[in-house]
Formats: sequence, structure tokens, C-alpha cells
Amino acid sequence: MNRVFSGVQPTGNIHLGNYLGALKQFVELQEDHDCIYCIVDLHAITVAQDPKELRESILDVAALYLAVGVDPKKSIVFVQSSVSGHSELGWLLTCSSYTGELSRMTQFKDKGKGKESVPTGLFMYPVLMAADILLYDTNVVPVGIDQKQHIELTRDLCNRINNKYGDTFVLPEGRYLKEGAKIMALDDPTKKMSKSAENPLSRISLLDDESKIKKAIMKATTDSEGVIKFDMEKKPGISNLMNIYVSFSDLSIEDIEKKYEGKGYGDFKKDLVTIVVDGLAPIKKRFEEIRHSDELIEILRDGANRANEIAVPVLERFKNNLGVGI
Ligand code: TYM
Repeated sequence: MNRVFSGVQPTGNIHLGNYLGALKQFVELQEDHDCIYCIVDLHAITVAQDPKELRESILDVAALYLAVGVDPKKSIVFVQSSVSGHSELGWLLTCSSYTGELSRMTQFKDKGKGKESVPTGLFMYPVLMAADILLYDTNVVPVGIDQKQHIELTRDLCNRINNKYGDTFVLPEGRYLKEGAKIMALDDPTKKMSKSAENPLSRISLLDDESKIKKAIMKATTDSEGVIKFDMEKKPGISNLMNIYVSFSDLSIEDIEKKYEGKGYGDFKKDLVTIVVDGLAPIKKRFEEIRHSDELIEILRDGANRANEIAVPVLERFKNNLGVGI
């Protein structure tokens, strides 16, 4: 069976981009893959965090995994810092990585932009991500397209190490969805939807209430043409909304173009509000049920034990090939 690994940072509210780019894939893949889903708290601390808020966010993301449909009977769900192999492999991989390739990472350049001093953790972020993936002999990594450069670096490290030390790691591949791979900000469809954007109306979080969802969609930037037609280059605003529509319904882009022929953006947006509100309602309900339950903590503990069992022999294999230890 193919091994799947992915992770989400416990920072801010999980939004439609995270859901449609990554979490939706998590649920699909668990039916016929051996899936491991992680809450990557060690990545979150590459920027300053309030400890209390961080702990809450870890449990929020864990509960959201389950709320969207990740089934702990089928998938392993755990918190990254509970399995020490991530940090250990992170160091071992650091010794095979180059400052040049890490300086070229666009996420690092964006996050470090304008800062007088940039935390070392931010620089090493992609190496820790490579460790997450390689630690489990992962074949498939379901993510949004913004992670592609990190996946490529992981593959480079994997090949470099296998060439130098003999067969050690499995070569992973990124998996990106067609419609959800890059959900754009609602207020500015030239930027990706992100947790950290200042304007709350730029995103829809999975736990937002109906009035917020309505406001964000009705105010979403479109164009003055008023024709519902998919063209990401010329009409990025409406095309982004169409991608969201497709992801929440059984309709294709062509179906939507036909359905709204001769109609305006107002009609389309009103329907989209209903579709998104209805799509998120069961997620919110399940989240409330599980978030403060003992079951959640048990699932994470059990997940960490199961993940650790897979990680230890892989780490040993690499240490053995490297010649460290006795
Ligand atoms: P994070 O927490 O920023 O995002 C979690 C997932 O959501 C996807 N995503 C998007 N997809 C579509 N449109 C968007 N606007 C959008 N914004 C975010 C991301 O691509 C990601 O799949 N580095 C990772 C976390 C990570 C990880 C890993 C992922 C750490 N280790 C190992 C996979 C495997 C990140 O920052 O995700």
C-alpha cells in the first residue's frame, strides 16, 4: 500500500485554501492508502508564538482533521513534537543540505523580507519538512501548490543521500488537486489565501459563521465584465470563486458556466454562500463535539505511538548508513 504523509501548521484559523488544497485530499486518500497526518507544531515555532495559544491551536487543528473526515481508525493522526525522530532526522538532513538551496526557498524569502534578523529556524524550515516526509518512507504528499518547492527540495535531499550513502530513503511525490491547489485571497485574487493576511475578509475559515462567510463572498473582488467564465489570467477573481464552487459541489467548471449563462455575479455569489455555508456546517458540528473530548487526546497519543513505531527503523537505517552511533 502506498504511504501518504502530510501536515498542517497549528497557526491561525484553518481556511478554505488549507481545506480544498490539502485536507480534502487527506480524506480521499485514506480509503486506499496508508496515511499519516501530522500537526506540525515544530514548524509553527519557526516564528514567535504565544505558548498558550499554540497549545490551543494544536488541538484545534487536530479536531479539524477529524471534523473534515480524517478517520483515526484508517489514518494515523499525531503531533509532530511527540515523535522525536522528526527533530533528530532534521539535524541529520541539515548536514546534507546547502545554504544556497535553502536561501532560494521563496517561502523563506517572503517570510524573512524586510526583517533585520531572520530566525535560523525559518531558514531550516524546509529541512525539517523533508525530515517529516522521509521519516515514514512516504510515497505521496498531498499539499497545495505553494509547497511544491519544498517537495522538490525533499526529493533532492533524498536522491543526494541515496547516491552518497546507498539506498536509504523512499523518493516521495507531491500530489496537487486541480481546482483546490491554489485558492486565492478573496479581496485580492493575485495573492494566495493565507492565514496571516491582515484583512479577515480575504479568507474564509472553516469555523466562520454564516454572516462572515456571506460578507467575505459578497465583497469578493471580481471584474467589471459580469460574465461567469473561467479564465484564471484575465478573470482571476470569479475564476477563484468558481474553483471554490466546484470543490464544494458535483458541478464542473463547464457546468457552472452553463448554469450561470446570462446571470450576474450577484446570483452566482448568493448561491456560492449557500453552498459554502452548507458544506462547512457538518464540519463545524463535528468540531464542537470532538474539540474538548478526552477522545481527541487519546487519538493523538495513540497516533504518536503508531507513528514512532514506523519512524524508529527508518531513522536507524539512515544512522547505520551514515556511520553514526555504535
Ligand atoms: P500550511 O500549514 O501553511 O498549510 C497547510 C496545507 O494547506 C495548503 N494551502 C493551500 N492550498 C491551496 N490554496 C491555498 N491558498 C493554500 N494555503 C495553504 C498548503 O499547501 C498545505 O498543504 N510546510 C507546510 C506544513 C508541513 C508539511 C510537512 C506538509 C510541514 N511538514 C510535510 C506536508 C508534508 C505548511 O506550511 O503548510
